[in-house]
Amino acid sequence: MDPASFVAQLSSENDSILNRLKPAEALTAEAGGDLTIRNLLRVALRNELEASEIAALWMPSANGADLKLALARQSGDEARHYRLIAERLGKLGDDLAGFDPLAQGYSPMFRYLGSLQSDVERVAAGQFTREAIALVKNSQFIELCERGGDTETASLYRSIIQPDEQFHHELGRRFLERLALDEVSQDLARSARLRTIELAEELQTLAYQRGKIHHAPGC
Ligand SMILES: [Fe+2]
Ligand SMILES: [Fe+2]
Repeated sequence: MDPASFVAQLSSENDSILNRLKPAEALTAEAGGDLTIRNLLRVALRNELEASEIAALWMPSANGADLKLALARQSGDEARHYRLIAERLGKLGDDLAGFDPLAQGYSPMFRYLGSLQSDVERVAAGQFTREAIALVKNSQFIELCERGGDTETASLYRSIIQPDEQFHHELGRRFLERLALDEVSQDLARSARLRTIELAEELQTLAYQRGKIHHAPGC
């Protein structure tokens, strides 16, 4: 399959799979739970840190200046998201004293992404798919913030964080079209994409079982 058709096919498959991550009842189910925006923002800090670190981790072994610089840019964007969220938490009265976002270690998603060796798998999993998942989860979170009257947090996500995550996803699309040139690389991309979605679903289930968190913002 030619790369553009392959990416278009992957994109439409992703769209239908990602619908599983956004059941409408999830938000309703949690409205009565013990969730607070503050807790969810703390979860977001860990996601942003991991997203920043994984992009930095991949930069030295990426092939070509374009991809290296795209990863550097992403790493910086995610670090900025971390800072903006930390500042927002400060305004909400959480000074993060003693908070270690990695106190419970790296997530299975981070460990999986860190294990990927080829650019095509990394781009398919880390940018193209993980950022698409982040867009879905962040939009659920925005809805939750607005329902709870926290328009400032909603606006931070809507006007700054989401456009960046969209850009990261588009980077994934652009590089995937360059890298998924033959059947072998397309198979690698497809399976990396599937494993990433599986992990996101497993994490969502785990997060829900442990903390009744269904829609923590992503990366
Ligand atoms: Fe991102
Ligand atoms: Fe981010």
